Amino acid sequence: MSELKNDRFLKALMRRPVDRTPVWMMRQAGRYLPEYRAVRAQAGDFMSLCKNTELACEVTLQPLERYEMDAAILFSDILTIPDAMGLGLYFETGEGPKFRKPVRTEADIDALEVIDTASDLAYVTDAVTMIRRELNGRVPLIGFSGSPWTLATYMVEGQSSRDFARAKTMLYTQPELMHQLLEKLSLSVIDYLNAQIRAGAQVVQIFDTWGGALSHAAYAEFSLAYMQKIVDGLISHHDGRDVPVILFTKGGGLWLEKMADTGCHALGLDWSTDIAAAKGRVGDRVALQGNMDPAVLRADPAVIESQVESILKGFGAGSGHIFNLGHGITPDINPDHVKVFIDAVHKFSAKY
Ligand code: CP3
Repeated sequence: MSELKNDRFLKALMRRPVDRTPVWMMRQAGRYLPEYRAVRAQAGDFMSLCKNTELACEVTLQPLERYEMDAAILFSDILTIPDAMGLGLYFETGEGPKFRKPVRTEADIDALEVIDTASDLAYVTDAVTMIRRELNGRVPLIGFSGSPWTLATYMVEGQSSRDFARAKTMLYTQPELMHQLLEKLSLSVIDYLNAQIRAGAQVVQIFDTWGGALSHAAYAEFSLAYMQKIVDGLISHHDGRDVPVILFTKGGGLWLEKMADTGCHALGLDWSTDIAAAKGRVGDRVALQGNMDPAVLRADPAVIESQVESILKGFGAGSGHIFNLGHGITPDINPDHVKVFIDAVHKFSAKY
C-alpha cells in the first residue's frame, strides 16, 4: 500500500498534534453535487450506484476533486446489511428507503441469517479496494456501518419513521425478541466492518442515527451495549496502523461519558452539544468530531465563517478535533457554500 500523504485525520483521531484541524462532511458524496446526480442517473438508481464498483468509486472521489478534504468516506449505505439479509431494500423518490419484507414476528427474526460479507456484500469490499487504489495515499478512507439499533428501526418499521412505534412496541413488549434481532445485527456488523478494514478502510464510523430516540435506560441496553460488542469485536490494528473507531449517536449528547467508556477513539457530535462542554467531559479520553449545524450552509458566507470560527474556538487549543457537520449535508446546499465552509476551517484552525 502506498504511503499516506495526508494523515491529519488519523493523527487527530489519536489526539496527536496537527498543523490544522482536519475536516470532512457526513454525506459529502451526494445530491448537492451536480456531478453526483449525473453519475446516479447513469447508474439508474441509488442502489445500482452502490453496487457498481467503478461508479461507487467515482462518486466517493468527487468531493475530493472539488474541495480540500482530509478524508474520503466509502460511498454505500447503512441498509446494505438488511438488504443482504433478504429484506428487499428499495428507494422511492422523495420517500426514503423501504423494505418489501420488514421483520415483525418471532418467525421473521428466527429466519434471519447473520451475513457473510465475503459472499453477500462483495460489492462493498470491492469498492473499498478500488477506492484505496485510486486514492493512492491522498487521504485516509473511512468505512462505516449503521448501529444495530438504527438498522433494527428500519427493519422493523419497514421504512423511515418519526416515532418508531413498531420498533419501540417490540422493545417494550417483547424485549428478548428485540435483543435477538440486535444480537444477529451486531455479529453481522462486526463481520461487515472487519471485511471493510481488511479491504483497506483505515477508520470506521458507526452511525447510530436513531439512538437519541431512546430513553436513558433503553439507550444503554438496546443501543450502546451492542455498539460495545462491535468495538470489542473489531480488528484494532491493520497494515501497520491502529484502526480508529468513531461512534456517532445523533442526539447522544447526554451519554458522551458512556460512549467514551466503550473504548472507541472518537465521538461524533451533533449540533445540539456544546463542543467546549463535551471536551471538558471526555476530551482527555477520545477525540471529538463535529459539529456545525448543516443548516448553517444555507446562510451567507460570512455567517458560515463565523459559525466555523466559533466551533474552533469552542474546542480551543490542543489536539483531538476533527471538523464535521453535526449530521449529513442536505441536497439543497449550494456547492459554493461548501467551499466557503472547508476553506474557513483551513483558514481559522491553524491558530488552535
Ligand atoms: O457520507 C457519505 O458520503 C457516504 C455515503 C452514505 C450514504 N448513506 C449515501 C446515501 C452514508 C454514510 C449513509 C448512511 C446512512 N444511510 C444513514 C446514517 C447516516 C445518517 O444520515 O444519519 C442512514 C439513516 C441511511 C439510510 C438512508 N439512505 C436514508 C434515510 C436515505 C434517504 C435519504 C434522503 O435524504 O432521501 C438513504 C439514501 C442515500 N444514502 C443517499 C445517499 C447519497 C441519497 C440517495 C439518492 O441519491 O437519491
